[in-house]
Amino acid sequence: MKIIQVPDYEEMSKRAAEFLLKKIKQNPILTLGLATGSTPKGLYEQLILDRRKHGTSFQHVTTINLDEYIGLPASNPNSYHSFMTENLFRHLDIPLSNSYLPNGEAADLQKECARYESIIDEKGIDVQVLGIGQNGHIGFNEPGTSFNQTTHITTLAHSTRQVNARFFHSIEDVPKQAITMGIASIMKSSEILLLASGTKKAAAVHQLLSGEISEDFPASALHHHPHVTIIADDEALSIFT
Ligand code: F6R
Repeated sequence: MKIIQVPDYEEMSKRAAEFLLKKIKQNPILTLGLATGSTPKGLYEQLILDRRKHGTSFQHVTTINLDEYIGLPASNPNSYHSFMTENLFRHLDIPLSNSYLPNGEAADLQKECARYESIIDEKGIDVQVLGIGQNGHIGFNEPGTSFNQTTHITTLAHSTRQVNARFFHSIEDVPKQAITMGIASIMKSSEILLLASGTKKAAAVHQLLSGEISEDFPASALHHHPHVTIIADDEALSIFT
């Protein structure tokens, strides 16, 4: 695991954007695994800025997102479809047909999980961007999830729903389930870029860097992956350093 320590969220976002832009320049037909949430928002802003400044084209890039809530229509402002459209896709030239998210409204959700995993297998993710939950989740793989799981239906931990309630009117409105890439799906990607910012992530980052591997702490599976880069700011690394 390579750890890059940066002073703050802005620097984390800039370094992450440089990391991805370099990869896209080397390989314009890159497949990117993407995350939602507060962590990658700054990275997405930097990618949009770069497009405006330098005209970088993402025309041949494919994106595959980690997860989507079950039961929220794609048009709901809190769906991850909406998050990605608002915060990234509508600002870039990625053809919509090249962007994949799980369908949380599929009539047959098990079938949807299998379909999504086959997309991951067919495209092959070159770089997967990850945030980390305060409980160590990656994607929506909550503590206790088998490292062998591929894309599956997950029940969100109460603590995850509490943390994500900030985007909804109340915790009751936060969906209880989601479709998420599994740990095994994430581990198929050639390279992983995990981002962490802020004191709220310090305990999780500390546990990750302790090196102990356990299904009770999903992010620890990343120790089995040969190409992981972590860009974390001073606050996220405050217990470690
Ligand atoms: C998002 C995802 C989650 C988040 C994690 C951190 O697609 O899969 O694992 O990365 O919950 O969320 P933020 O960045 O909001 O702190």
